Amino acid sequence: MARILNAETALAEALEALEAGELVAIPTETVYGLAADAANGTAVARIFEAKGRPRFNPLIAHVDGLAMAERIGKFDPLSRKLAQAFWPGPLTLVVPLGSGAPVHALVTAGLDTVALRMPKGFAGRLIAALGRPLAAPSANSSGRVSTTTAEAVEADLGDRIGLIVDGGPTQVGVESTILRVEDGRLLMLRPGGVTAEEIEAATGQAVERPTGGAIQAPGMLASHYAPATAVRLDVAEILPGEALLAFGPVRARGAARAMAMLNLSPTGDLREAAANLFAHLQALDRAGAAAIAVEPILHHGLGAAINDRLARAAAPRDNSAIPA
Ligand code: TXA
Ligand code: MG
Repeated sequence: MARILNAETALAEALEALEAGELVAIPTETVYGLAADAANGTAVARIFEAKGRPRFNPLIAHVDGLAMAERIGKFDPLSRKLAQAFWPGPLTLVVPLGSGAPVHALVTAGLDTVALRMPKGFAGRLIAALGRPLAAPSANSSGRVSTTTAEAVEADLGDRIGLIVDGGPTQVGVESTILRVEDGRLLMLRPGGVTAEEIEAATGQAVERPTGGAIQAPGMLASHYAPATAVRLDVAEILPGEALLAFGPVRARGAARAMAMLNLSPTGDLREAAANLFAHLQALDRAGAAAIAVEPILHHGLGAAINDRLARAAAPRDNSAIPA
């Protein structure tokens, strides 16, 4: 059982929980979101843990307005026009990630783009009070449908989260439209609460729609971050010239000769490992090593998503889309 608080009186408690790195299920105008402080990697890791997601899909960073959005992503006149026309509302804009953006790498799954949305109502007030973006996927466990009432959130996730804010049934009832804005082009990644026609009317520009039906997980189709350096998994021994991505207290043989070493979690904590995964991979990628050798990582809980990501990083490279 999670505590369920009415949105009219929940602000201070929800804020306190988020500041403590906890998850809070919140109403938005589309569907309920499972929110965490987007700057706190361990808190964001808890989202994937609670949803039981087998992989790290990038998350939407929810903002309280265009000013906060522009501290995270790079806007051009077209994306700015879209934000001004549809925010707050059910339109998520995928734009290039800015440098030094106050969102953890787990939110973007290491991509160089970021999905941004300004929600209506309680969610918007909560973000303004926090002063930072909230990472929030739909509040449902992996493989189940999005939730549109606090009762549905409780039935699905109630045993895994502490607090649900009840704002009544959501108005829109479907997820936000996800629109990638890139070099003057508009690419609809997911249909949702704002239609292509509305976007075309507001911008005077054509929207390119997905071919072959709805895209389930657009983030999986974007070229996911993969290190330029080769990746070798489940190593028992480090070879000369390799960098080491370690996990837990016990080192692989030859660890002393690694060109560089970073430990995902010295104590073997999977939540900490998830939070460090993208930043450590990126740092070791810059070490100029022959390969990144990765120690075995537990497969339970968040270990499934960590191993999935590493398997993709280690897979032979081609530039075609990664199947979701
Ligand atoms: O209405 C909504 O959008 C709700 C409410 C809570 O805001 N959120 C939601 O989040 O539906 P989620 O995580 O269930 O779906 C977000 C989708 C994912 O499929 C993810 O792959 C995609 O957005 N996404 C996130 N960042 C992306 C990026 N940089 N490029 C492409 N797709 C991205
Ligand atoms: Mg979802």
